[in-house]
Amino acid sequence: MTGAPVVTVINGPNLSLLGTREPDRYGSGTEADLRAALDAHAERRGIRIEFLQSDVEGEIVRAVGASSGRSAGLVINPAGYSHTSVAIMDAMQAFRGPVAEVHISQVLARESFRRRLLTARAADAFVAGAGFGSYLHAIDIVMELASDGAAPHPG
Ligand code: DQA
Repeated sequence: MTGAPVVTVINGPNLSLLGTREPDRYGSGTEADLRAALDAHAERRGIRIEFLQSDVEGEIVRAVGASSGRSAGLVINPAGYSHTSVAIMDAMQAFRGPVAEVHISQVLARESFRRRLLTARAADAFVAGAGFGSYLHAIDIVMELASDGAAPHPG
C-alpha cells in the first residue's frame, strides 16, 4: 500500500435517501453531508476514504471483496441487510483487515427484528446510535485495530 491508508466506507440500501428519509430518526444530514464529514475526518487523520452506497446486496458483497487486502479497514452500514444477509456477513468475515459495523440509529432500542444483528457477527467492532458520529468513531476504531495488527474477526 502506498500513500495515505485507505478506509473503505460502504452504505447499504436506502441510505442515499438520508436527509429526507425519517429525519427524526436519521437526522437532516444528506449523503453528501455524510461524505463531507468523512472526508474532513480523513484529512484530520491523514487517511483517504473510498465510499460506496448501494441498494444491491451483490454489489455490496463485491465491493467488500474488492477492498479486501487493498484497504486498511472497512466501515460498513449494511442498513436493512444487517438483519438478513448471510452473504454480506460472509464477505465481511473474509475481509482481510479490521471491520466495524455502524448504524446511525440505536438499533438495539428499536423493533425486535432490528435487534437480530446478523452481519455484526463478522464485525470486530460495532457502533450504533451516534448519528453520523458512528462512522467517525468507527474510522478511529478500525485505524487503531489496523495499527495493532488486525485481530481475526469473531464469529
Ligand atoms: C440503519 C438501521 C437499520 O435497521 C435500517 O434498516 C437502516 C438504517 C441505521 O443506520 O440506523 O436502513 O442501518
